[in-house]
Formats: sequence, structure tokens, C-alpha cells
Amino acid sequence: MKALITSGGKGTRLRPLTHTQNKHLIPIANKPILHYAIETVAEAGIKEIGIVTNSDCSEVPDAIGDGSRWGLRITYIPQEAPLGLAHVVKISEDFIGADKFVFYLGDNMVVGGIKRFVQEFERDHVNCYLTLSRVKDPERFGVPEIKNDRIVSIEEKPKLPKSKFAVAGIYIYDQNIFKAVNNIKPSQRGELEISDAHQYLIDHSYQIGYSEITGWWKDTGKPIDLLEANRLVLEHLSPHVLGSVDSNSYITGNVIIGKDAKIVNSHIRGPVIIGSETIIENSYIGPFTSIHNSCRIKNSEIEFSIILNNCEILDINGRIESSLLGTDVQLVKANAKPVTHRFIIGDQSRVELV
Ligand code: DAU
Repeated sequence: MKALITSGGKGTRLRPLTHTQNKHLIPIANKPILHYAIETVAEAGIKEIGIVTNSDCSEVPDAIGDGSRWGLRITYIPQEAPLGLAHVVKISEDFIGADKFVFYLGDNMVVGGIKRFVQEFERDHVNCYLTLSRVKDPERFGVPEIKNDRIVSIEEKPKLPKSKFAVAGIYIYDQNIFKAVNNIKPSQRGELEISDAHQYLIDHSYQIGYSEITGWWKDTGKPIDLLEANRLVLEHLSPHVLGSVDSNSYITGNVIIGKDAKIVNSHIRGPVIIGSETIIENSYIGPFTSIHNSCRIKNSEIEFSIILNNCEILDINGRIESSLLGTDVQLVKANAKPVTHRFIIGDQSRVELV
């Protein structure tokens, strides 16, 4: 069994963060999203992984490498444009060869692993195995119609969903998926849709197995999804402190503090992760917050947020909440006269002020 993981596409719903960074490399609990996909696949015993990348950029191969750090072999498969998930499968036929494979969308996160799904796929000798998750907004996803415990149709982002389930981005296939992706036509939005490939398999009487994901699953398509995924991952981390905490500081709940980080006269209420060489001074860091490496936070309060590398947050009045700050961001109190709000903000940013 091999695995195919996606890391292409444009990440438009996560701009401006994705103007300068591939969305799969954005950290959740200080670890790139793509690492979770690789680790989940590795945990299921798979040793050979193909990662589909945007052909005009080496950011993902540069950051991930050849897989040896996980004891795996990673092959990169360039995609000339985001032409759809069935196109991703189509261009990977040579890499997959005669194997069966897990197709894992690199922006999906799941707790509880995928081993059970691989075992059920093997046991039931199905041609295609889908994972389903109950969601509030099925119209954002591929949606199955289920009758008598069988999937009888699948529609991509339907206006009127026929069930409360999303087809999650973890699929398992045998060779027949290549017949499907080679025979479907692009959708109205010009993409070869994976849901159309699944519908092809249903229409041609191939066996489709499925299972509901009972733990949590997230497609990290939008900023709020990143904050939610961060919250869920932090809830499962075991605490440890490598940096220093002075005697005027309080650490409560599960907190990870990285190497050479310094906590001075502050309250950190977990679950929280603080990266290496970050300095927190006279501040409050509240639950479900990830602060990456080499940040400086002084006289400020932050909760339920993700702060990337090398940010400075200094002397901010009022608690910062539900926020996502990219790399090298400075959020500082205006000191020069006249005292006004002063912004230098990149394209497609969003700021909410009280
Ligand atoms: O997350 C589950 C959903 O994923 C499914 O329910 C849908 O049926 C499926 O179409 C897909 O929908 P999304 O709209 O979330 O797909 P998105 O365009 O966000 O792409 C998913 C991943 O694949 C992401 O890692 C980007 C990558 N990608 C996407 C396309 C279209 C590529 O690498 N190449 C592509 O051509």
C-alpha cells in the first residue's frame, strides 16, 4: 500500500497567509499541517508516499525533504495547475503502479488515525473506501446519499445536500480509480472532481465501502478551521517545560514551553504551546493559543489564537482573541503624536477594531 498526499492548490480562502506561504506548511500547535498528514499515513504502516505539489514552487519539497526523518520514502509529483483532485490522481498513476493506495488531502486533519480504515478496506475487498464525517455545512463538501447502508450517489458541493455527511479527504482505492479519473470530464468550474470519479465507480457497479470518522476531523480551508484544529490538537498535547519560568509567573493547565523561551511575570493558562526563544513578559496567554518561535510579547493578553514566527506584540490594550498572525508581524502601541490607528497591512488582510 502506498499513499498519495496533496499539497498543491492556491489556498485562496487563507489569504493573506497563503500569499507568502503554502497553506500546508502553516503550523497547527507549532507543527506544519502537512506533518500531521505524513505522520498519520506512516502510523498506518505505509512507507512510500507521493506528495503532489504546485509545479512552479519548491517550497514543500524544501521544507519536507525526502522523508528519511520519518523513516519513509517521499516522491514529489508536480501538478502544472490546480486542475482538480481527480487530476491529482490521474497524474500519479505511474507513481502508484500496481499498488493500492490511500489518497489523503494534505489540508485535512484527523485524530484517531486511519489504520482502522485501511484494515476495513483490505478485509471487505472493496474497490474504493470513503470516510464520512457528520457536519453542519455539508454544502461545502462532497456529500453522499445513503440508502439501506449503501452510498448510492455523491455530489460535489451540492446546493441541496442529500445527507448531513461530508466525504472527508481520506480515501482508499484499488486500480479501478484510474478508469474513473481517465473517463470523467471537467466540472463547470473546470476541475476534474473527485466526487465525479466516485460517482463513476458507483455507476459502473464497483464496490464502495465507507465508515464514519468517530473522532474529530477538520478540513483546514478557512481561518476559523485553523483555529479550531489548533484548539483540538492542543487539547491532546502532553505538557513539558524546556525554557525558563520566573517565580512571578503562573503556569496552569497543559503548557509546552520550548527551548530558550522565557516567561517573565506572566500567566499562561493552558492548553498553550510556546516556541523556542520566545519571550513573554507581563502578559496573559490564554487557552488554545499557539505562539511560534522567536516571538516577543509584552504587556498584552492573547487567547484562542495562532501567532507565527518572529512576531512582536507590545503594549496592546484589550485582549487579542480568535486571531491569526503571520510571520514577522508587529502589533504595537502607537506612541508618536498624533495618537491614531496606523496600519501597514498586506493585500486581503482583515483587522477588527473596537
Ligand atoms: O476536505 C474534504 C473535501 O475536499 C471533500 O469533501 C470534497 O469532495 C473534495 O472535493 C475536497 O474539497 P475542497 O474544496 O476542500 O478541496 P480543495 O480545493 O481545498 O483541495 C483539497 C486539497 O487538495 C488541498 O490540499 C489542496 C489540494 N489540491 C487541490 C486541487 C483542486 C491540489 O493539490 N491540486 C488540485 O488541483
